[in-house]
Amino acid sequence: MPATVDPAFAADVLAGLAASVPAIPARWLYDQRGSELFDQITRLESYYPTRTETALLERVMPDIAARVGPGRAVVEFGAGSLTKTPLLLEAIAPALYVPIDIAGDFLRDAAKALSERIPGLAIHPVEANFAEAMALPGEVGDHPRLGFFPGSTIGNFVPRTATDLLRHFRDILGERALLLIGMDRVKSVERLVAAYDDPERVTAQFNLNLVERINRELDGTIPADGFAHEARWNDMLGRIEMHLVATRDLDFTVAGTQFAFTQGNSIHTENSHKYEPRGGRLLLLAGGWTPIAEWTDAAGDFALILAEAQPNRFAP
Ligand code: AVI
Repeated sequence: MPATVDPAFAADVLAGLAASVPAIPARWLYDQRGSELFDQITRLESYYPTRTETALLERVMPDIAARVGPGRAVVEFGAGSLTKTPLLLEAIAPALYVPIDIAGDFLRDAAKALSERIPGLAIHPVEANFAEAMALPGEVGDHPRLGFFPGSTIGNFVPRTATDLLRHFRDILGERALLLIGMDRVKSVERLVAAYDDPERVTAQFNLNLVERINRELDGTIPADGFAHEARWNDMLGRIEMHLVATRDLDFTVAGTQFAFTQGNSIHTENSHKYEPRGGRLLLLAGGWTPIAEWTDAAGDFALILAEAQPNRFAP
């Protein structure tokens, strides 16, 4: 095996392939190649979320700025996108900006590009997994906080984990904090499936890149055409699922361990939950955040919600 193998990747893949319902955590889709492919996805005609959220942010920013006010410490969970984050930072005159991301190189590049675009902005990047315990930089001090979690990334967590994550954000940001979060909405199955199975086949490459990564990094022997990309709408659970479906009966090894797949069986590689208005607000409430304003595009495809941290006090 290559010397640089990540033991957590190996453990997740070996356990995931052996599970009764085979599944590999979606975060392993995002190696260098996977991140480049995801970037291409965000510009595809059929992938509506990115451009819809960006246009929505642009349109409603005066309202957001009026509610948020100046002088906040903006904490972004994930390194900021250079199309969305500057829109927010330029509009609200924050005291400082704290992007949190596990990918150090990506984080530093994003911080550098942002400081060129907004000279004078105080940027304090934190290299960490935003889902785990961490301390905010001392510079945050007593500034009121605004958490920013765009992109509908919350949809990539199953509701139980999403609730834990929101409660964790509430703990990090503290009382009086606000959270601005993007959520993708339920819409026609045709549009949802097209967004995750585009005619250009970029999403297929993104999913199949995981097979290549397993072969490359874990000495896998999975045939290149052994699995096919599939995007399915799971109506009961309100989510798009990405699967790698075996195109024929397969036998292969990964890191010396033998696996067999029957034709049609799949490896589940990602969930993308879509929320109806009340369902999305209930998720926030369960996570310790009270929604105070909500905006959508004219077609109702995507929502931005502003929520405030629930105070620690007795409730009836
Ligand atoms: C990152 N995340 C919000 C994307 C989504 O839409 O769930 C990931 C993605 N997977 C395939 N296409 C996009």
